[in-house]
Amino acid sequence: MLSTFSAVAWAAGGASSAGARSLASKTTTRTTGSPQRYFGAAARIDQISSEPGLAELFLRQCTCITPEIHLKWDALEWEEGRFSFEPADDLVRFAVKHGMSVRGHTLLWDQSTPRWAKKRLKRERDWSLIKRHFDIVLGRYADHVSEWDVINEPVGDDGSDGGFRRNTFFEAFGPSYVERALRTARERAPRARLAINDYGFDYDNPVEEKRRTNFLKMIETLRRADVPIDSVGVQAHLDLSKGPLNQRIVENFLNDLAGLGLDIAITELDVKERDLRAPIPVRDARVAAEVQSYLEVALAQPAVRGVITWGLSDRHSWLQDQMPGGRPKKLEKLNRGLPFDAELRPKPLHGAILAALQPDAPAGALALRAR
Ligand code: XIL
Repeated sequence: MLSTFSAVAWAAGGASSAGARSLASKTTTRTTGSPQRYFGAAARIDQISSEPGLAELFLRQCTCITPEIHLKWDALEWEEGRFSFEPADDLVRFAVKHGMSVRGHTLLWDQSTPRWAKKRLKRERDWSLIKRHFDIVLGRYADHVSEWDVINEPVGDDGSDGGFRRNTFFEAFGPSYVERALRTARERAPRARLAINDYGFDYDNPVEEKRRTNFLKMIETLRRADVPIDSVGVQAHLDLSKGPLNQRIVENFLNDLAGLGLDIAITELDVKERDLRAPIPVRDARVAAEVQSYLEVALAQPAVRGVITWGLSDRHSWLQDQMPGGRPKKLEKLNRGLPFDAELRPKPLHGAILAALQPDAPAGALALRAR
């Protein structure tokens, strides 16, 4: 596939992270009718505090941060009753100090539920354990976290179980756990925006088609029952082996979600590559083109309030750990699915996100776009 990004234009642009324009528009004035969106990224305080270049990059590029792991239940309470708040506290403090908003990720996710809690939930089916968890986390971060992924990944891949994923919470409480979680969160965090976040909505294949239908049905049911939910998170982990995207599918899906009266956040954008043997400029062009295609339709939807990438630099992308054989040793073998490379240099993907988020930016900023 030939992309709209030219490697030549990119090379000629040359760039360092310090010179890269900010993806987050820091101005409040708008010259066109396009809405102002936030740009953010998933972050870890251990990386930010030990790598000054990375810290600077977050400060320059983002107006929003989401903790990649620190707010997950198993990160906060690996052993029952022994809490580890420090990393989350430090990251939230870093964000607040620098005027960034925080997206709270995530209160309930099967994969990040500690083993002891899973066991107890399955055995006792006692909601008070969930309530206690929400009380502690929402209570501690209420003033600084504006939006929460209350439930992460509740959607199933087929039509069974009413479209719900058969996870610990489903097994303990049935499908009503989603509604109960949102109501419990609202009681404890009356001012926060509450969201459900999920993946696998982007491509034109039967599994994702089913997932879109299941998700829409779930949200529609919640809305009808007047359950407190303000927003949905669309993870958007793009994947070149499933692509290219069919823009109409993304457009219709976001339109249907917006039609249910909710805001939308693109919460975990990144791109898994298909062919890591192609020359790097070709790989980078493919990645950028896929995101350009996605954001072109996603940002045409006014309900989409912002974009978050799952990390900023390929150096720390979770996708490296997903590779067969684990994280590659050689730099050129790393997946290149985030806006900055492993040496924190901006890539064509940075240009693609910038162009999509800031169509009013001066022409110079768009110089990376070819043709
Ligand atoms: C991932 C983190 O990036 C990893 O570091 C961690 O080991 C596992 O979780 N969908 C989500 C995120 O909602 O929480 C996941 O984050 C990536 C997939």
